[in-house]
Amino acid sequence: MQEPYLIELQKIGEEEIGYISVAQAASNVPFDIKRVYWIYQTPETVERGNHAHKNTLQLLICVRGKIKITLENRHRKIVEFVLDDPNQGLFIPNYYWRKLNFFDEAICLCLSSSDYSEEDYIREYQEFLS
Ligand code: TYD
Repeated sequence: MQEPYLIELQKIGEEEIGYISVAQAASNVPFDIKRVYWIYQTPETVERGNHAHKNTLQLLICVRGKIKITLENRHRKIVEFVLDDPNQGLFIPNYYWRKLNFFDEAICLCLSSSDYSEEDYIREYQEFLS
């Protein structure tokens, strides 16, 4: 079973001109990227996620603001990450229940190993644990 972990992404540039960060399959993303989507304008009072994926692997990047991500595996082991740096990514393996909280007008860029399929989601917490 894979564990979630933070990945330092390449950061090119300097303070005077700004930066470019790069996520590239085969160099710093541990899967082939099939899909990219982004989550934005989520109010701070809302908790997103509350699901797990059967097969999909993901890398989440907070390109703006701050995101708290709580991950739980099927043994009920919980780990929490705070993303607030656009040159960091959080790798999330399959079978991790996730909860996302957005702060400071956060934008979450999500790189995904699969096309969208509702079949790949587990949306019932009890089903996830069993
Ligand atoms: P979901 O993954 O449940 O988002 P969150 O857990 O952050 O609330 O997706 C929300 C809705 O968007 C859901 O109805 C499915 C739809 N959706 C797509 O149609 N395609 C996609 O690639 C994604 C990620 C979501």
